[in-house]
Amino acid sequence: MNAESRSRLDQMPEWTALNKHREQLGEVHLRELFDRDPGRAGRYTLQVGDLFLDYSKHLVTDETLRLLGELAEATGVAALRDAMFRGEKINVTEGRAVLHTALRAPGSAVVEVDRENVVPAVHAVLTKMATFAERVRSGDWKGHTGKRIKTVVNIGIGGSDLGPAMAYEALRAYTHRDMQFRFVSNVDGADLHEAVRDLDPAETLFIIASKTFTTIETITNATSARDWLLTGLRAGEEAVAKHFVALSTNAEKVAEFGIDTTNMFEFWDWVGGRYSYDSAIGLSLMIAIGPEHFREMLAGFHLVDEHFRTAPPQENAPLLLGLLGIWYGNFWDAQSHAVLPYSHYLSRFTAYLQQLDMESNGKSVDRDGNPVGWETGPVVWGTPGTNGQHAYYQLLHQGTKMIPADFLGFAEPVADLQPGLVAQHDLLMANLFAQTQALAFGKTPEEVRAEGVAEDLVPHKTFRGNHPTTTILATELSPSVLGQLIALYEHKVFVQGAVWNIDSFDQWGVELGKVLAKRVEPALTEGAEVPGLDASTAGLVAKYRALRGR
Ligand code: F6P
Repeated sequence: MNAESRSRLDQMPEWTALNKHREQLGEVHLRELFDRDPGRAGRYTLQVGDLFLDYSKHLVTDETLRLLGELAEATGVAALRDAMFRGEKINVTEGRAVLHTALRAPGSAVVEVDRENVVPAVHAVLTKMATFAERVRSGDWKGHTGKRIKTVVNIGIGGSDLGPAMAYEALRAYTHRDMQFRFVSNVDGADLHEAVRDLDPAETLFIIASKTFTTIETITNATSARDWLLTGLRAGEEAVAKHFVALSTNAEKVAEFGIDTTNMFEFWDWVGGRYSYDSAIGLSLMIAIGPEHFREMLAGFHLVDEHFRTAPPQENAPLLLGLLGIWYGNFWDAQSHAVLPYSHYLSRFTAYLQQLDMESNGKSVDRDGNPVGWETGPVVWGTPGTNGQHAYYQLLHQGTKMIPADFLGFAEPVADLQPGLVAQHDLLMANLFAQTQALAFGKTPEEVRAEGVAEDLVPHKTFRGNHPTTTILATELSPSVLGQLIALYEHKVFVQGAVWNIDSFDQWGVELGKVLAKRVEPALTEGAEVPGLDASTAGLVAKYRALRGR
């Protein structure tokens, strides 16, 4: 499948060299690394656009970074990156180009897929989105009864939900405050029920977001939303056109559902679902923040795309973050990676990254279909600080697991906080800095004893430290900074997939559950026989039916 099959990762001399280096480092402590090399704090930093990265609190030396760089070179990360930017079909199992970077390319750029420049089409859709967004924001777009739209409900799941929902929360300070925005994803009817129960259908716009327009959750919710609308309006199908628009690559299915394709905003098969919120999938976000802010966000993405494409390896932030993840996952047995934003507006940020990272790199065969003999993507998790500090940070500080973490913070709170709340910002950030310090350097038994702690409590009050972290700081969480952050993580995930030699752009692992759910549903509703159902699941189905009185 892969024209130029490469040698196994774990048989490469660069891999062996890293293993050896890891052995030599042994139980090295960050305290020791800082003592030995006081210059590392200044040296191990990067500035990319508005993002300042401090990676000095990592269990690395100049030699580690050199060896990781050699691994990246030997595994052809740069060549695969260039192939991606050129529009080559690097998603080998689906035979598709991977061109989310074209979604934020300037109008003058030329990016070809099958010898066709896709940039004009990208900008045509952005213009169509902007016109529509302005009409809805200004009240010019009217519902069926002539009322203006007050609430936008995005119905989608996975990449068709997490991106816009995350970015809407992140950029709330920039949103149209006289409108409401809601996001429905779960096939659990409670999700749609809670989203619409207090809404007037005459003032509600549904955006049906689905790349394939076949996803069962989305089509089921969209059908229920249409029933709710038409019942509420006491209207016929003619009302749909004013209250439903579609975001999709599949015009045929959109028309089949009953949405006029003039109300469809298009994107393309070279945009992966989890890489799509800067495409038409971002329409709800564009209505919320306005086309100008949306363009600023795209410019932020593009800035980091260009950095990733052109910066030399030692200064290349996505490359560095990707390699650090490989260092811990493959050479320190770290199983998970925490992303801990110190911004309440980033409440959905890590959930978004879970799909980006885990759907991309949760793979166990390589690009040629051979089983990998090395760990691939980590479990990604986390919630905003300071809340997590009072929940699971205990395990980070004193548990037995190695969990590298990213801490994200901003110098300025967003603009419209009242003065008293602005003052709280220093406290928030003091916590961020304190946590990374405590995680790295801990507290020795000697330090605990010096405080007069009783000997039997010394082990309990000791902090081993040595927990690696990256700190990412920016002035404020603007649309551009959000774009920069997302592109940084997109390319980090890319780098890891390239080194592990896996296809980061397919997601076959979600298919089996979908097929089985379709098979099981008639057993729940009609008691139908499911051929080949295992005894455990058959028992659960029977119990469920009994509980429902069937
Ligand atoms: O189930 C996985 C998945 O295919 C994701 O990759 C995707 O983001 C999501 O489902 C939704 O798909 P669609 O946009 O086609 O409805």
